[in-house]
Amino acid sequence: MGGSRSRGGGTLTLTQVMKRIVILISGRGSNMEAVVRACAAEDWPARVVAVISNRPGAAGLDFARSCGIEAEVVDHRAYADRLTFDQALAAALDRHRPDLVVLAGFMRVLGAGFVQRYEGRLLNIHPSLLPSFPGLHTHQRALQAGCKIAGATVHFVTPELDHGPVVVQAAVPVLPGDDEASLSVRVLQAEHQIYPRAIRWFVQGLLQVQEGVVRQTAGEAQQGWFGP
Ligand code: GRF
Repeated sequence: MGGSRSRGGGTLTLTQVMKRIVILISGRGSNMEAVVRACAAEDWPARVVAVISNRPGAAGLDFARSCGIEAEVVDHRAYADRLTFDQALAAALDRHRPDLVVLAGFMRVLGAGFVQRYEGRLLNIHPSLLPSFPGLHTHQRALQAGCKIAGATVHFVTPELDHGPVVVQAAVPVLPGDDEASLSVRVLQAEHQIYPRAIRWFVQGLLQVQEGVVRQTAGEAQQGWFGP
């Protein structure tokens, strides 16, 4: 990736045009894994330069290391409050000069200062069809509400929890006899389809937010996706 090419008379190294992605996780990291695999397989103009977890034991850290990606921990328990944790996390992130910060099962609420620092380059995936069911226990709540369709949403992060501009959504059926476990497996499969897709659009420069609504400027216009 260290080659060079000419542009407008100047010379840019390929590492300069590659967008730098940092992924934040707290645990399993299956979405992170889906993004890392798609980034490599689909030859994105980007690379995942680091994975950061707030939990030392996060299983996803091992996968990142096995791919040669820098994996580090900023343990929230080492900080007195949210603000000092957010500051430490931002310092760790900024060392990697991210063009895009991807929350992938990152289970800490981030303060407004942190969110504003990365505004427009901070994405999250949430396991519901937002604006329904922001917050925790989404599958249980969808089942209790008698929903016939569940799903997942990729959105830009804003200071209000799980409320930012929607990039792409996947809908999956709620089947008779579903419980939280079976529904979450079906939704997770859909998450693994839409998150890499949304991130590819971002690094290709195809997304624009206009008055709180995401528009795709070119390419695949279909931002609703129907899963298994
Ligand atoms: C996913 O369901 C994601 O939508 C939610 O947390 C879960 C993380 O799973 N925010 P994983 O760590 O990516 O496997």
